[in-house]
Amino acid sequence: MQTDTGRLLIVDDNKMNREVLRLRLDRKGYETEIAENGRQALALIAAQPFDLVLLDIMMPDMDGFQVLEAIREGHSLTKLPVIMATAKDMSDDIVKAMSLGANDYVTKPIDFPVALARIQTQLALKRAEEALQAAKVEAEEANRTKSRFLASMSHELRTPLNSVIGFTNILLKNRKGNLDKKDLMYLERISANGTQLLELINDVLDLSKVESGRMEVFSETFEVKTVIEDVVASARPLIDRNENTLDLHVADDVGAMYADVTKVRQILNNLLSNAGKFTHKGRITLDVARQNRNGVDGVVFGVTDTGIGMTVEQVEKLFQPFTQADASTSRRYGGTGLGLTLTRQFCSLLGGDISVESEPGRGSVFAVWLPVQAKTQA
Ligand SMILES: Nc1ncnc2c1ncn2[C@@H]1O[C@H](COP(=O)(O)OP(=O)(O)OP(=O)(O)O)[C@@H](O)[C@H]1O
Ligand SMILES: [Mg+2]
Repeated sequence: MQTDTGRLLIVDDNKMNREVLRLRLDRKGYETEIAENGRQALALIAAQPFDLVLLDIMMPDMDGFQVLEAIREGHSLTKLPVIMATAKDMSDDIVKAMSLGANDYVTKPIDFPVALARIQTQLALKRAEEALQAAKVEAEEANRTKSRFLASMSHELRTPLNSVIGFTNILLKNRKGNLDKKDLMYLERISANGTQLLELINDVLDLSKVESGRMEVFSETFEVKTVIEDVVASARPLIDRNENTLDLHVADDVGAMYADVTKVRQILNNLLSNAGKFTHKGRITLDVARQNRNGVDGVVFGVTDTGIGMTVEQVEKLFQPFTQADASTSRRYGGTGLGLTLTRQFCSLLGGDISVESEPGRGSVFAVWLPVQAKTQA
């Protein structure tokens, strides 16, 4: 192991002890300072940075315990490790020192190689902790940069794409009647692909907003039944395309909700489109009912399908961004694996949650619970 040098503070009222220790540590390449008593030690610590303190317990006036307590008020165990020097056979002292926040101890007379080994261990731990903190700060900053980049890119991409889709749709109307079947088929492809790309960009933009904490929630009161009708109407083509049937069970007393209706719609759209996409010639059921949870009034939306289902391993990875059950899924079914990540984020933004049960070859059940009355954001 490479020797980890650093700035050490030796606190001992006995001149002989501290000078000997200082000499030996200096020789090992450490930078040392000495303090004759507790007050001096605390003044030094307040004035300059140290990597470790070697602190004698038995000192007149202010003892080592008091000094230790004062150090721990401003410095954590990893920021400033403290090794206590205790008399032999004083296990009570050791226990007390550790409970007050000492990192380790050595017994007097100090066995230098032992003290050195303990110093090295504490310094290595401190360095590791510092490296970890630095990496965390760096990763968080990188993540914020990524989110900002995604947000601005998504914005820049949407504008031209909307115009591509818009003009394509104008051409598709074939007002002049000069486009033949093939032309129209090409235009339909452009429109469909453009729309798909736009959805992807919208998802990425949403995700970057959620991740950077900038996703806003606009709550309003709406009839649950009306939203269900809208969502079902827009999911219908996908459900029909795979020759599935849709059963709708909406409880009569489901009533109104106060929440962000766009997000509720998006949650249900994602679940229904997944059910439609991953089920062929099967049955999809949407159950909607009131459900009280821990005294909170809510609505539960259950989407059940008889489709391909998922293994336990696949379910575990389900809510991670850009994850699809297996590599062949994206090739066969399209999509990017953002739908459920966003769905879960939205559920928690609205104060609810999502759960799933699935079995390969049999189907899946997704259940979303949302409070009837969303908390108004501060
Ligand atoms: N109802 C379902 N039945 C079987 N597998 C499903 C079901 N819903 C989701 N999955 C699996 O979970 C994966 C992730 O779903 P998610 O909705 O996040 O992404 P996607 O549908 O592939 O793409 P996107 O929604 O972004 O267009 C899917 O690729 C699929 O493998
Ligand atoms: Mg999906």
